[in-house]
Formats: sequence, C-alpha cells, structure tokens
Amino acid sequence: MKKLYIVANWKANKTGQEATTWLQHMANGLWRMAKNEIEVIVCPPFTLLSPMSFYIKQHNLPLILGSQDVSPFGMGAYTGEVTAEQLKEFVDYVIIGHSERRAHFHETDEMIARKVGKTKGYGLIPIICVQGSDTPIPAGAEVIAYEPGFAIGSGNPDTPENAEKVARTIKERYHIPSVLYGGSVSGENVNSFTAIPNIDGVLVGGASLDASSFMKIMENA
Ligand code: PGA
Repeated sequence: MKKLYIVANWKANKTGQEATTWLQHMANGLWRMAKNEIEVIVCPPFTLLSPMSFYIKQHNLPLILGSQDVSPFGMGAYTGEVTAEQLKEFVDYVIIGHSERRAHFHETDEMIARKVGKTKGYGLIPIICVQGSDTPIPAGAEVIAYEPGFAIGSGNPDTPENAEKVARTIKERYHIPSVLYGGSVSGENVNSFTAIPNIDGVLVGGASLDASSFMKIMENA
C-alpha cells in the first residue's frame, strides 16, 4: 500500500480557541487513523504553530505540523518574516509557492527556489505547489502538490484522469517520489484522487477547516 499524505491548509483562518476546538474534535478519530499508512499534516497560520505543537505533544496525537510559507532569507533584519530555522522548532513540512502567494504577494519562481533551499537547509520537507506540469520545479523537490488555479476554492475539482496525467508527467520529468492533488477536495471526491496510482495524497483547503469534514476526508482516502 502506498503512503498517503493528507495535508490541511488552513490559510488565514482560525483563532487559538478555534484551533483547540478543532484538535479536540479530531483527537478521537485520529486514533483510528494512526494504524494506517497515512501522514496527516496540518498547516495553520504561524501564530498557531506553538500552541498547536504543545497540544499535539501533550495529547500524543498522530498529527504533524507544517507551515504555509517560509522566508527566503535567514535570521536578521527582515521585518515580518519567519525563517526556516525558527520553523524547525515546530514543523516538519513547509508549503511553498501556493498560487495565492504567487497571485497576492508576487512570489516568483526564483523566490520559491530560494525558499526551497532554506527549507531543505534545515532538514524540513517542502511541499511545492505547481499549477501544472509546466511550472518550474526547483532542484531537490520531493513532494509536489498539483493545484490547478480553477479548482482552488471553486467546488470544481480537476478530473482524476487529468490529475493522473499531470502527476505522471511531473514524476517522470523531475524524478519526484510524491505528487499530491489539491483543489476542491472533499469527503465525497477524495477517493477518486487517492485511488489513482500516481497521486500520493491531497492538499485540502476549505474542507480542512471543519473537523468532521476533514475526518471524513481521512476516512474516505
Ligand atoms: P480548496 O483549497 O481545498 O479550498 O480548494 C486548496 C488549496 O488552496 O490548497
């Protein structure tokens, strides 16, 4: 059985109290998941990494934390940035190059490559988002998330057939071991993606915010 990644991307959502409520709801169901070959990665806003890390350790939950971004710089005079060295205290994974960062914050392929370099330099695993098989992929990539723009937050996912084609192309072209699919993934459609040979998991936005709908995704994956 292949190892599956189920990644929750909370984007700019949830307060500390809301995150705790979500974790409380998840706790029971997660024990059923723990035996399976599933890596469940939650990527909250930076502000929640420290309290969530504490909660997860305290309750011994089989959840891994990731961040939604990282600075392309190291420690120093970069107001507002959070570095890979700082993230390493809390996370194992870092989402890099999400299309919302490219669109709203003008992230370039060059900046994304620098972020990947910083991330790997501290032993963290970048989850690099691409919009198709033509998006440049920096050297050293291991986990790619294929997220076509039209599918994000639209309720209109790509077809499993096309996602399979893109994932296969990426794996062959760049020798990438794991390709995830993201864009309007739900409890209802997740299995049509995770059942595909070349798709190794899903990146979930909207449907990860509610604990029971995220639980349903984990169960059906
Ligand atoms: P969505 O977002 O699941 O809400 O479509 C996915 C993403 O942007 O990572």
